[in-house]
Amino acid sequence: MNLYLETYGCQMNVNDSQKMESLFAAEGYALVADFRRADLIVINTCSVREKPEQKLFSALGRYLPLKRRNSRLVVAVGGCVAQQWGAELQQKCPGLDIVFGTHAIDALPAMVREVRSSGRPQLDTAFRSSIPSLDIIPRYAAGTLTAFVTIMQGCNNFCSYCIVPYVRGREYSRSSAAILAEIRQLAENGIREVVLLGQNVNSYGLQNEGEFSFPQLLARVNEIRGIERIRFTTSHPKDMSPELIAAFADLDHLCPQIHLPLQSGSDRVLARMGRGYSLADYLDKVERLRRVNPEIAFSSDMIIGFPGESDEDFQQTLEAIRRVRYDTVYSFKYSPRPGTRAATFPDQVEEAVKKERLRIFQALQDEISSENLRKLEGSVQDILVSGPAKRGGDQWVGRTGANRIVNFSSPENLTGRFVAVRITRALRHSLRGELA
Ligand code: SAH
Ligand code: SF4
Ligand code: F3S
Repeated sequence: MNLYLETYGCQMNVNDSQKMESLFAAEGYALVADFRRADLIVINTCSVREKPEQKLFSALGRYLPLKRRNSRLVVAVGGCVAQQWGAELQQKCPGLDIVFGTHAIDALPAMVREVRSSGRPQLDTAFRSSIPSLDIIPRYAAGTLTAFVTIMQGCNNFCSYCIVPYVRGREYSRSSAAILAEIRQLAENGIREVVLLGQNVNSYGLQNEGEFSFPQLLARVNEIRGIERIRFTTSHPKDMSPELIAAFADLDHLCPQIHLPLQSGSDRVLARMGRGYSLADYLDKVERLRRVNPEIAFSSDMIIGFPGESDEDFQQTLEAIRRVRYDTVYSFKYSPRPGTRAATFPDQVEEAVKKERLRIFQALQDEISSENLRKLEGSVQDILVSGPAKRGGDQWVGRTGANRIVNFSSPENLTGRFVAVRITRALRHSLRGELA
């Protein structure tokens, strides 16, 4: 039996898809790249911005007609759009076999078996008080170096623009025992780098009595032999504690890299977003992190054209990125999400204005990103080699601790090794170097 999986959205969604792949591997399914060969098609959706329903309907327009030729084909929709629309989705899309929400991944194989035996459509979008799917362990191909480990899911922050708390539910943390056991197993299987995932990892463990805090968990992961690099995403600036800042000094495997989404450089806009910090608070945390380790590379998410954003507010956002000098910023036009507070704000920004501001913003950030890369020319960087470069030959690619991509040539296959590389040239989004 063949499984075709299509995934949109954040790294957590990608990790959820990896879990589905491992669940179905246990049921005898092999993953295929061609949907026409599939017996089961799963679309894992994201609803964080811009017309996710349209994307889903066009995917279903591709897949549902295949059922006429292949009566064994089962089509399932999961993820955040499925969570949001549930039964409505089923009514709108006749022939869709399964709709499963963000807490129901572990239930999917049984739902597929049920469809195969009864032919009846299945729906499960209940929020559970504990989420068993968090403990499903993805399987990685031999030779994989980096693994993603979801440590918590959900969010209690309800930023005024954001749909995530509605589609992922409230904050829920996995037990540290399960997380650490998984990472030990990964290390034994050759994984060298782990990325800890959650909508708000700083809140890890706070709901479970007696559980480690996030910095305490990081310290335990830091002790696991074989794990050379630890990263995490996403942490909320308001919860960036002194303990977490200290971890960047104390933990030798914690990479000098942090994704710390600012969202806007205007205090007025930040307040209306409900972010719980001012630009000054944020810059203070960046400053403290840089004092602990000046090498830390920052990245951010930014929303352009939030309701009420004036030209003055927008200028403050530009000023903020000039000050922080991010390596990368994921910037998007504000997109009203059904059911969120900001979608009802009366002062929505015109589409053309959002578009123009986004263009200006991205041009400036591109310049800053390039400048950051150029500053590394001549330096020697420790690279974890992930494999052959796209252009092949004797070219290899890896990443620095700060997560910058480096291409270099070597007659020898160095995949999986740490090597020192002297940076010779900065390109648009990556670096070139030679073995030092
Ligand atoms: N928990 C993370 C963000 C998860 S959502 C945090 O708080 O930083 C990922 C990103 O999507 C957000 O950082 C935000 O920049 C963007 N986003 C969320 N809702 C959006 C909306 N309605 N319009 C545009 N971008 C949005
Ligand atoms: Fe969304 Fe805010 Fe929660 Fe991040 S912290 S997931 S932006 S509500
Ligand atoms: Fe999208 Fe859901 Fe992630 S809305 S960003 S897939 S949590």
